Amino acid sequence: MTMKHIATLLLFFLPMALQANVVDGLLKGYQVSGAGGFSAEQGAADWQRRVAHAKSGQARSCSDCHGSDLTKEGGHAKTGKLIEPMAPSANPQRLSDAKKIEKWFKRNCKWTWGRECTAQEKGDLLRYLQQQ
Ligand code: HEC
Repeated sequence: MTMKHIATLLLFFLPMALQANVVDGLLKGYQVSGAGGFSAEQGAADWQRRVAHAKSGQARSCSDCHGSDLTKEGGHAKTGKLIEPMAPSANPQRLSDAKKIEKWFKRNCKWTWGRECTAQEKGDLLRYLQQQ
């Protein structure tokens, strides 16, 4: 194997290893705060769930901005701005930064569901997102 091959392999596998670490760290934290086992199916259902927003009365879901096929780009429901694909398989930058994930969970859960997501919901959502 040449150095170039090794470099190419590293570039490919490094983001994947990083994601697994970051997500595992978050999941452990959620369990410490009382969440049980996590389920990708539950996460998928949460992602699609339409919730009537308390203030506006609008039915909102995560897919409003990120779409249902997470390997594709999404569009911001309010501003129309393009959102890079959520799926790590299509966008290796995803789920590689715990601070960014928590920041957007907070903001997006509030915007979408009118409240913060629970540790259980965040864990289920991450399990689902990780597999996309
Ligand atoms: C109003 C539009 C909108 C809705 C609805 C929305 N998001 Fe987002 N989300 C964004 C934007 C904008 C970003 C930051 C830009 C980016 O990362 O592409 C983001 C980023 C994220 C990230 C960061 C991922 C990473 O590693 O880069 C997560 C996690 C996330 N959203 C989860 C959710 C969940 C869960 C829901 C539903 C409860 C949701 N979003 C609903 C607009 C939205």
